[in-house]
Amino acid sequence: MFGKINVLILTTLIIFISASMQVFGFPWNYDMWKQKSIKPYEMPMSYPKGTVTIDGKTNPIEREKMEAITSNQLDSSKLDIKKGKELFMINCAVCHGEKADGNGPIIKKGFYPVNLKTQGVKDRKDGYIFAYIRYGGKVMMPSYRENLSEEQAWQVVNYIRHIQNQSD
Ligand code: HEC
Repeated sequence: MFGKINVLILTTLIIFISASMQVFGFPWNYDMWKQKSIKPYEMPMSYPKGTVTIDGKTNPIEREKMEAITSNQLDSSKLDIKKGKELFMINCAVCHGEKADGNGPIIKKGFYPVNLKTQGVKDRKDGYIFAYIRYGGKVMMPSYRENLSEEQAWQVVNYIRHIQNQSD
């Protein structure tokens, strides 16, 4: 029943169909690309509702609620000035300076200095500084959510409080 010509046509058809699938992809290939993730060169967006942190335990709280926290949330026995200092030197000193007086090396590259020892910053709540680390600046300071865990961020807050009380 199948003549040679028919076999040839069928084979050509199969090759053509499978080749076109390779080129255009199945619709579901495209569906995988079309999702809520941030695309290359797209501006970062705020966290979608219901997002959980990578440890899967704590729900991220809104910035305003974070800013209202009055005291360091880390158990006082865990607070360690040395740890906080180390993290501050790695992550913050480049802009805010080793003494937190806003004289970091990047200032010489045209960045404006932000002195963390001023009365204005001293008067901030601990949660405000914590939120600055977690969410980043309201003008241009980057977020340190990915560099510092919550615990590490509280260590840094503790160190800032310590250094704020030191005279130069
Ligand atoms: C790339 C430079 C840069 C780095 C690094 C940086 N900051 Fe900042 N920070 C700024 C700038 C600029 C501001 C001014 C306000 C803004 O950008 O929102 C600021 C503001 C702040 C404020 C707010 C002061 C206030 O009362 O309004 C706090 C607190 C702060 N930084 C803490 C930190 C801590 C803690 C780190 C390290 C985890 C850090 N910063 C790392 C640039 C930086």
